[in-house]
This record gives sequence, C-alpha cells and structure tokens, in this order.
Amino acid sequence: MNSTLSQRQERSLLDDPRTCQTIALNHRRNKAQDHTGEIDAVAARFEYAACRDEWWNPESYSLLYGTALWDGATAAQRRLLNHLYWVAYYAQIISAEIATILLNQTSAAGLASLEDFRPICDTLDLETAQERGHIQAFKTIGEAVEAELFGERLFTYPMRSMYAETMLFAETDRIRSFWKGLQLRAFSLLSSGNAFIGCQYFTVRGLRTLNGKMVQHALAAPASRAADPAATPIPSQISRLHFIDESFHFTSSCIISRDVLRSLHPPTPFERWVANRALRGCQRDHFHFSVAIKGIFWHDPALFSTIYRLLRSPAFDMDDRDAREMLRRCFTEESAGLHEAHRIHREAVESYRAYVAPLDYVSPDNREMRLMAQSTLDGYLARTRAALARFSPA
Ligand SMILES: [Fe+2]
Ligand SMILES: [Fe+2]
Repeated sequence: MNSTLSQRQERSLLDDPRTCQTIALNHRRNKAQDHTGEIDAVAARFEYAACRDEWWNPESYSLLYGTALWDGATAAQRRLLNHLYWVAYYAQIISAEIATILLNQTSAAGLASLEDFRPICDTLDLETAQERGHIQAFKTIGEAVEAELFGERLFTYPMRSMYAETMLFAETDRIRSFWKGLQLRAFSLLSSGNAFIGCQYFTVRGLRTLNGKMVQHALAAPASRAADPAATPIPSQISRLHFIDESFHFTSSCIISRDVLRSLHPPTPFERWVANRALRGCQRDHFHFSVAIKGIFWHDPALFSTIYRLLRSPAFDMDDRDAREMLRRCFTEESAGLHEAHRIHREAVESYRAYVAPLDYVSPDNREMRLMAQSTLDGYLARTRAALARFSPA
C-alpha cells in the first residue's frame, strides 16, 4: 500500500508480516507439489474392470457398512459397497467443489477490493484450478462405475451450477431449495464486493473442509501407506492425491478466516449478520448424519429410492418385498453402522466449535453449534421411520 497517496484503508495486510509469510509459503508449497497433472493422467487410465476385485477404501468405508445389508452381503457385494462409498462420497465432494470454484472467485474479488491482497487471490486461483481437476477425476470414475454396474445414475449427476443444490441428498422441497438458491446468490454477490464477507466465506469453507479431512484422511490411507502408491487401485491413488491438495486448501482457509481477518476493520452489524447466517446455513446443511455414507451429512429419507434401486439391481437382485424389508432394517433399526455415523457427527460438532472459537463475531448459537448438536439418534430413527411408512418407490 502506498502510504504517500490517499487510501481507503489505514491498515494493510503488509503490517502483518508473519501472516504474509505463511500465505506465501503455503502457496509456494502447493504450487511445487501440485498434483493436477498426475490426477488427470491417473483418472484418464481408469478402467473399472482393472480394479473391480480390489478394495478401494478401508473396509469400514463402505456403503451401509455395519448394517443388515453389510452383514448379509457376499464378499463380492461387500467390495461393490466399498466402491459405491467412493462414488457416492466423491459425488458429494463434486457438489461442494462446484460451490468452492465460484465462491473462491467471488471472495477473491471481495478481498481484492482492498490493497495488497494479491497473494491471497493467487492462492485461490491455484486452488480453483485444482478443484476443476478434482471434479473431473471424481466424475470420470463415478460415471464409469455407474454406467457399467447399473446403466443409469445412482449418486452421480450431470454438471450443474452451485445454485442447484450444495447437498446431494438433502432435507428439502421445491420452496426450500428455491429459497436456498436465492440465499446463495445473495451471498456470492455480497462476498464479491465486501472484504469481510469474502474473508468470512473461508470460515464456512474451513468447516466444510474440516469435515472432509476427517473422512479423506481415512480414504487416502491405503495408497499413502503402500510402498508403491502407483500400484494401488486408481481410485485409492486419487483419494491420496486429493487429500494432499486439500491439506493446503485447509491451511489457506485457516489463514484467511482467522489471521487475515485481523487486518480488516471489525465487521459492521450487517456484516456480522451475513456471516452468522452463512454459519447457520452450514449447521443446517450438516444437521443430519447418514448410515449409508458415514461422515457425509445426508438426509437418509432422501436416499431411500436410490438405495431401493440398488437393492433391486442385479448386484443384489432383491424383489420388492425384500428390498423394502432391507430398507427398514438398515435405516430404521439401531446398528453398529448407525452408531458410528452418529459418533462422527458428534465429533464434527466438537471440531467445528473449536474452529470458530477464536472468532469474535460468531453468535453464541453458531459458537456452540446448537442446531447441529440437536441431531440425535432418537430423532434420526423417528424421522426415518415416519419417512419409510410414506415411502413408495418411484
Ligand atoms: Fe478438491
Ligand atoms: Fe479444496
């Protein structure tokens, strides 16, 4: 910032050399190890036939692990559930990363409305390009698997905008999703012209990445622990490479949402309100937990028809009665899988509280993650039981 000429701001990021150094270091390291080319090359070689007999994730990261379906499945079906966890999990990550691509850029524009923010914008440009590579790899594999196994989509979807929906299997209806689309449009516009709101987006992104890290650390383990990661199945390799990229993204979320915040003016009441609305939205998105995909906060009743189709497919070959009975046992009874999904949700609540603890502007409601903390096992069972009683396959 040129201090001889008049400026709109008295403080500058350059007054905080430590933060400037950490931003530069994180960017330099991410650029030096950038895996985009490797992810592209590995995904392009994917053939389901070459790795369909192998485990892609640790065994417990399988669709409906620890439920009646898992207990009664053959070895081949269990491997299939393992592959489908990968497909479903990263289908949700695609949706989150579509949003990241847009909001990285609008927030960078908001931050660039002040002097001296170029290094952060450069960091975000690199991360955005990486997300495009991630999306393409997840999509290539997910679609290839579903085409081969089912000839139709179960968890994947054609490319779409962030405004369509950020959670794949959410508790929503047309009015709610229209309203959410409006809120997202408002937030992206506000972040593009306001440094505080742009900066605060990284609190939400940090929380979402924190949740991602919990699962992705486990998904990356098979390739990370292998003597030769390149010899592991391609989806396992992608989990590892993605996890490394995301570690840098998490670091930049932490730096921007906490350290950079100190170089900005304290927020106005309106800015606080917007920031807390966004955190509240994150709590709402992460309210539910899913027995089907532990660590992803889907609303399981929204999954019934997809899981029903899976059970009726040649992979499980159930008739209508058996498929409905299996839905009942998996989604409306307590199981080891359900307890584990609930435990991970509680762990997320704790880690989110720790993440926002140093931020002054956060309301008590968001500080304690009160909404998310109301998500209980009994509530889950009451909701799935009521929804299953109304369920009829499309
Ligand atoms: Fe990513
Ligand atoms: Fe990311």
